Amino acid sequence: MTKRIALGVDVGGTGIKAAPVNLKNGKFLAERYRIPTPQPSTPAAVVKAIARCITEFKPGPEVPIGITFPGVILHGVVMTAANVDDSWVGVNLEHLVRDRIGRDVTVLNDGDAAGYGEFKYGAAHGEDGVVFLATLGTGIGTALIADGQLVANTEFGHLIINGEDAEEYAAESARERHGLDWDAWIAHLQRYFEEIEKLLWPDLIIVGGGVSKSHHMFLPHLKLRAPIVPAELLNGAGIVGAAAVAALLHQRGELRAKDAKNREKQAAQHLAKKVKKPEK
Ligand code: BGC
Repeated sequence: MTKRIALGVDVGGTGIKAAPVNLKNGKFLAERYRIPTPQPSTPAAVVKAIARCITEFKPGPEVPIGITFPGVILHGVVMTAANVDDSWVGVNLEHLVRDRIGRDVTVLNDGDAAGYGEFKYGAAHGEDGVVFLATLGTGIGTALIADGQLVANTEFGHLIINGEDAEEYAAESARERHGLDWDAWIAHLQRYFEEIEKLLWPDLIIVGGGVSKSHHMFLPHLKLRAPIVPAELLNGAGIVGAAAVAALLHQRGELRAKDAKNREKQAAQHLAKKVKKPEK
């Protein structure tokens, strides 16, 4: 049996990372490849770097390719660019990559990719109900999964808390920028997740991003209604989730194409019967 594989590419503020993923278990099939995100992170420069990450693995035509982006993505188009170059807004990233490498790709928000990755293979595996994931990094990426369905492009990192954008207040970068010690940062996180609970009533909260490696320093101190747990896929969640979503959409596309073919065949048979001359 051939392995089901998809390629995931994770575009971040400092690095672009890629790896082929075994869709059976969400594990990397080769060592992750990483190159620095070009600065300034303009569309032309970033697309060139994405293409380099893809060609590194020479994926066959049957391998779906998923790419994350740190902004809202609607039908392949970048709608917001909070932490990347402003020139991204309005750019169709799916088309740009397709034109560069000559094949279709799937582009999705980085928080969504991480959330879906955790749902398929990590901390939320098999979880019914409402799962909320927040990645705490330069910004706050979020994902909302309700009964296994991803509600794409939730931007709960931009809730207003104490008059401040939540990611300015509670992201990992906020901790560094405001010089907060753990206790002070925990107070900010407590406030942030209380607000989330008030609005979404999640059954499970997952915290990702680089700082989740130090989860024992802050997660046990948060007092919330829902269990709050660290992400299990750590920095691989974006790559794994992008690969899994690309594979899902690829499969749906194939099913739809098969369905259309069957319907075409049925219509042709129906027509053939109708035009058959009556016997004398
Ligand atoms: C963006 C989100 C993104 C998050 C993490 C935020 O500033 O608005 O779309 O998911 O940063 O990169």
